[in-house]
Amino acid sequence: MSRITVVGAGKYGSTTVQRLAEWDIVEEVVLLDIVEDLPQGLALDMNQSRPVMGNRTLVIGTNDYADTAGSDVVIITAGLPRKPGMSRMDLLEVNAKIVKSVTEEIVRYSPNAILIVVTNPLDQMTTLAAEVSGFPRSRVFGQAGILDSSRFAHFISEATGADIQSIEALTLGSHGKTMVPVPSLCRVDGKPLTEVLAPGTIDDLVKRTRKGGAEIVALLKTGSAYYAPSAAAACMAKAVIEDSGKHMPVCAWMEGEYGIDGVYLGVMAEVGAQGVRHIVVEALTDEEQAALVKAAEAVKAKVADLDEISL
Ligand code: APR
Repeated sequence: MSRITVVGAGKYGSTTVQRLAEWDIVEEVVLLDIVEDLPQGLALDMNQSRPVMGNRTLVIGTNDYADTAGSDVVIITAGLPRKPGMSRMDLLEVNAKIVKSVTEEIVRYSPNAILIVVTNPLDQMTTLAAEVSGFPRSRVFGQAGILDSSRFAHFISEATGADIQSIEALTLGSHGKTMVPVPSLCRVDGKPLTEVLAPGTIDDLVKRTRKGGAEIVALLKTGSAYYAPSAAAACMAKAVIEDSGKHMPVCAWMEGEYGIDGVYLGVMAEVGAQGVRHIVVEALTDEEQAALVKAAEAVKAKVADLDEISL
């Protein structure tokens, strides 16, 4: 029996479940939330779409971790959004408590699972889930790079008019300010991005990508993006389930790659049934390499904030 669990039945979690179920790559997808009846209602609705969509995967909505037992992959989306008046540290404390309790339950019922973390703040939450689970770090990783790279690819497609599927875009580092776009490895129809667009235009697209989430929040007024984020998380789970060995940018544990050690950072990784098989070290320009080291230092400083809260 193959099973993926998604914890958190908000927009992000439920859309991830829908994508996974429609791909038909596992027998069951379990959707768990603390809100009673919500995951059950969403599951019922999704299951009733199967005759039309042609898929068989059964979605199970639950409030009970016993129903998640033996999951191959668990995606953690549970958390609260930042509310007015809440400081960054307040949010960190609230979501750290949630991610800690979720991880403890998951480990109890699925001791062999691969954990994919998406709850923000991503770097801290991935680090915390790894520590609490006690799993090898290769089995715990976070989602950020696929989403940022995908947003960058969309903006490149808009700017060049090129087919979206002919674009290879890559961002490394962290989410937000310390995101490290890698124009030297981006391609449009096989041509280097730097030969297709002027440096100023590339800079503008990079800036827009960095604020990609905020742009959508401002338009939606309530809530944050979930279509592209859920596509990214589902794609990571698929690589694990299919043991595909696909290369994808994920928030992975660094052990000396690029001269960086002991921190979760957005890098290219080969992903398979055991999680991150290994980190794929790309040939970066000196500027990109320096930006990656800077991003690692920023993440280390942020992770240190976890020591200041009592969990
Ligand atoms: N256990 C299980 N579910 C929980 C818990 C918990 N301890 N605490 C909160 N939840 C659930 C909420 O009940 C809610 O249904 O997590 C869900 C979060 O949903 P939304 O608030 O709609 O957030 P969403 O947009 O789905 O984003 C989830 O992903 O990108 C990040 O910043 C985002 O951290 C956020 C996460």
